[in-house]
Amino acid sequence: MVRVAAVGDVHTPLERSAAQSLKVGFTNINKKADILAIAGDLTAHGLAEEAETLIYVLEDVKIPIVCVLGNHDYHNFQENDIKRVLEKGDIVVLDGNSTVIEVDGYKVGFAGTKGFGGGFGLRALPDFGEEIFRKMYREGMSEAEKIGRGLQSLEADFKIVLLHYSPIKETLYGEPPEVYAFLGASIMAGPIDKYGANLVLHGHAHYGTEKGMTSGGVPVRNVAMSTMGRPYMVYTLPGR
Ligand SMILES: [Fe+2]
Ligand SMILES: [Fe+2]
Repeated sequence: MVRVAAVGDVHTPLERSAAQSLKVGFTNINKKADILAIAGDLTAHGLAEEAETLIYVLEDVKIPIVCVLGNHDYHNFQENDIKRVLEKGDIVVLDGNSTVIEVDGYKVGFAGTKGFGGGFGLRALPDFGEEIFRKMYREGMSEAEKIGRGLQSLEADFKIVLLHYSPIKETLYGEPPEVYAFLGASIMAGPIDKYGANLVLHGHAHYGTEKGMTSGGVPVRNVAMSTMGRPYMVYTLPGR
């Protein structure tokens, strides 16, 4: 049995004093889970100093930590610095690549990337019209390709896709429908169903719904902290 703790959208503030409640939330995680996955929006305003505060928040977390960045982490053009701070703090940052963590004899594989918006199904953004919209389409396609490459490269007993944006509409329910296209894109569900996964984790939809599923039957969980109303959720992957 493998226990994966997951949370997104911690939005770490700059000041340590303001981050105390976040730190307290992770107090017993070493006993409750084997891995911590963080689904983006690690920082409030995309500052590397906020990432330093997150390292302080997570200093007592001894289980392996894997994460992707979210849109907030790009806001001040410091995403590379944020990545460096996190990696220095022994956190694996995924951006189109994958990692395998051994737990209790099981290989737990993560394919991760931020993802992007673009909308869902027949209403999704097409590759048509003004260049700026076509650029957005290509960004979504590029993120979908990263998911595919990550999954293809994994040799593991369990495969988990870690994203910030959602690949399905169902976990956005609770958000105003007008913003769905900014919260995720169904183009990302294609490679998930094609290459297969045991679980998809995402954040970004603060007022969404926890549980959903791709059309191919892969469970999707929105782990945005405010959606769950708790510091993290623990998902159990069954043993042999
Ligand atoms: Fe967020
Ligand atoms: Fe976000």
